[in-house]
Amino acid sequence: MVVQEEIASRESGSVGIGASLDGGVVTAPIEAPSVLNTSVAPVRFDATEEESLRIQQLAGSTKGWMRLSRLLVKQPHLAVHAARTAVRGASAGLRADHTLSWLIHVETVRQVIPNGGMGATWGGLETFMGLVAKHVAPSARALELGCGGGRVTRHIRPLVGTLVANDVSERILDEARAATADLAPIEFRVTYGLGADFRDKEFDAVIGHELLMQFDFDELLRYCSNIFRTLKPGGLFIASVYTFDEPQDIAAHMTMIREHGAGVRSPFRVHRMPRRTYQDIFEACGFEVVEVQRSRADEYKAQKTPHTNFVLQRPL
Ligand SMILES: C[S@@+](CC[C@H](N)C(=O)[O-])C[C@H]1O[C@@H](n2cnc3c(N)ncnc32)[C@H](O)[C@@H]1O
Repeated sequence: MVVQEEIASRESGSVGIGASLDGGVVTAPIEAPSVLNTSVAPVRFDATEEESLRIQQLAGSTKGWMRLSRLLVKQPHLAVHAARTAVRGASAGLRADHTLSWLIHVETVRQVIPNGGMGATWGGLETFMGLVAKHVAPSARALELGCGGGRVTRHIRPLVGTLVANDVSERILDEARAATADLAPIEFRVTYGLGADFRDKEFDAVIGHELLMQFDFDELLRYCSNIFRTLKPGGLFIASVYTFDEPQDIAAHMTMIREHGAGVRSPFRVHRMPRRTYQDIFEACGFEVVEVQRSRADEYKAQKTPHTNFVLQRPL
């Protein structure tokens, strides 16, 4: 990566940052406007091809830890920062993988509530299930994403023809199996990651309640592309997310970040984005938006930000 920064120079009056983030070269030199004092040598924002090549060769020829060691020998005051980053990086690595972070969270919950059912406190299903009932055909072959302990599964099962329900945890799937034993058959599947295991064009409907908020922007793009792929043309994707709809939603989130630190994902990973951003992601994956409805606050037992529910369609 070639990143060349210009330090703001009062003498020259020149400010600005030139950066190539794709590993390439910034090709267009930035000309100093004529009003500036050009007696100071202009800062160069470009690199020649030969220079770029040398940088790439150097970067590729030495291991990262060796380059870091050299840096720390030259600038020992960075050692404390580097150590802290290493420790934080190790835990962030676990939290960055949503499957692992979920399973870790589940284990933590079990330590506190050995028989706690996932989803026991996540109310707010009326609007969501209303959309499922309204849009999904009774004969549909449906997939429920992240079924947890089967709380939503119980509501979905009577509304569809056949149902597959997935989750990343075998143990959670056992609970869901037990919780739905009195209903028509449901196929439970263990899944992982971002849906690479989904089969092409298998379902008429994919339903995901309280799942998408576990994925960040990039992960969502991949996950939703796989959902698009597993839907038959004309198939529907019904999903709940948390959105920033009002200025006070953002303010509340900022307060949380201030109190708990940046990148807060408490108690596990919960992402939220502006509604428009979610819509952009869904559309980028090929979906058409059929309907969007926000759940009502009175659907929830505890005080909670109501979900925003999307009904999306893979075009015919
Ligand atoms: C917040 S709970 C919601 C459970 C249920 N949908 C409900 O609303 O009661 C999220 C569930 O998604 C599961 N999960 C996490 N990542 C997943 C993934 N990539 N695919 C499927 N399930 C996942 C978790 O194990 C957990 O059971």
